[in-house]
Amino acid sequence: MIKTMHQSLFIVLDGIDGSGTSTHSNLLAGFLSLKGLKTFLTQEPSSSEIGKLLRTYLKNERIPASTDALLFAADRVLHYKNEIKKKLEDGYIVISDRYIESSIAYQSSQSENISIEWVKNINKFAGKPDLTIILDIDPKFSLARKHQKALDKFEDTSLLEKVRKVYLNRAKNEGYFVINTDDIIELVQAKIQEVVIEKLNQRGIQTKN
Ligand code: TMP
Repeated sequence: MIKTMHQSLFIVLDGIDGSGTSTHSNLLAGFLSLKGLKTFLTQEPSSSEIGKLLRTYLKNERIPASTDALLFAADRVLHYKNEIKKKLEDGYIVISDRYIESSIAYQSSQSENISIEWVKNINKFAGKPDLTIILDIDPKFSLARKHQKALDKFEDTSLLEKVRKVYLNRAKNEGYFVINTDDIIELVQAKIQEVVIEKLNQRGIQTKN
């Protein structure tokens, strides 16, 4: 029996609130589907019961940062084992709107007692992405985009400045692509697509023209 080659790739778009991770994950999923690839779009917090609880905790200032960190990690392990891993095994390109880097950046910025090492450790059961792209924007601009909405507890300029620094440092150390999103959506999306296509080519994953 001929074994079919898996065409899978696990892509993550991450960044501070208002950097456009959801918009660009959606656009990227549409683009890859048009290119003839089986594409699975997902997000964190996930749709699990823990993910739903986390969505309510985003409105609750009284949840300790360590509880947030542990729940995000628990949600992620479920998300990876029950959804992402299965789709990758079925040959899908998986795009996750946020993943481990969100926990590293947000939870380590939330409290001085939370180290990046600890966050990495509690997340060690979640599989690693093949490609992480950090979407970067000054929080002053990103929060201005949300001015009419009720803000979540992390949507605060001074916290997001800290979070942004962690993302940029991590990107430098881990070699992640950083794409500035304070520009026309189509131009930003084109840059993201360029990075993804290069990765697909490196992996020998064929696309339709
Ligand atoms: P979003 O759905 O608008 O991206 O909001 C999710 C919020 O949750 C955002 O403020 C980032 C935060 N978050 C964390 O703090 N840690 C995490 O691990 C994840 C996935 C999200």
